[in-house]
Amino acid sequence: MLDLAAAGAAPARHIVVRALRPDDVAPVETLIRSVENFSPAERDCAVELVVLAAGPPPGADDYKVLVAEAPAGGPPVGYACFGPTPMTRSTWDLYWIAVSPTVRGSGCGRTLHAEVERAVRAAGGRRLRVETSSKQDYDATYRFYERAGYRLAGRVERFYADDDDLLILICELRG
Ligand SMILES: CC(C)(COP(=O)(O)OP(=O)(O)OC[C@H]1O[C@@H](n2cnc3c(N)ncnc32)[C@H](O)[C@@H]1OP(=O)(O)O)[C@@H](O)C(=O)NCCC(=O)NCCS
Repeated sequence: MLDLAAAGAAPARHIVVRALRPDDVAPVETLIRSVENFSPAERDCAVELVVLAAGPPPGADDYKVLVAEAPAGGPPVGYACFGPTPMTRSTWDLYWIAVSPTVRGSGCGRTLHAEVERAVRAAGGRRLRVETSSKQDYDATYRFYERAGYRLAGRVERFYADDDDLLILICELRG
């Protein structure tokens, strides 16, 4: 089983990434509900996975959450939710990653993603999959994923809506 306490504790400048604690659920929910490009249904789904990750197995085995503090000891300003993709040998899903609008552009997302990669590799994972929207609202997110090493691996036209395709992105983990 993935030991997030061991895998997720790496500071980069003033950003500290650590494993989820039960008392993070409420502040992470507040963070999720502040993300402007998530729909109400997406927010509910993202919160649900954080609750599962904070609870007992099997939820906690299926969903892992790392949170970012900046400064250390402060409330979570970012979080990432990920887990092993069922029925695959070494593929993991990055389900959600979000950073508070007030600290975006300062490396928090990059630091969180690096820690997700480290945790996934430590658990034997070899690649990360992201499913995202083709809508313009997600352009910045797409750039972020490109910078993190993802490539477009598939596209399903009109998946979410007539004007909204599903984009499947893959990041091969090295090392
Ligand atoms: C996507 C998100 C997590 C990025 O977090 P962040 O802390 O602002 O990102 P960082 O400052 O660590 O930037 C990392 C890299 O992505 C790039 N990037 C981040 N935001 C970008 C933007 N709006 N436009 C272009 N590039 C961007 C940065 O330039 C940086 O590139 P570099 O490594 O060459 O310097 C954040 O914008 C966010 O929470 N967005 C809303 C939620 C969301 O859409 N999540 C993804 C779907 S679940």
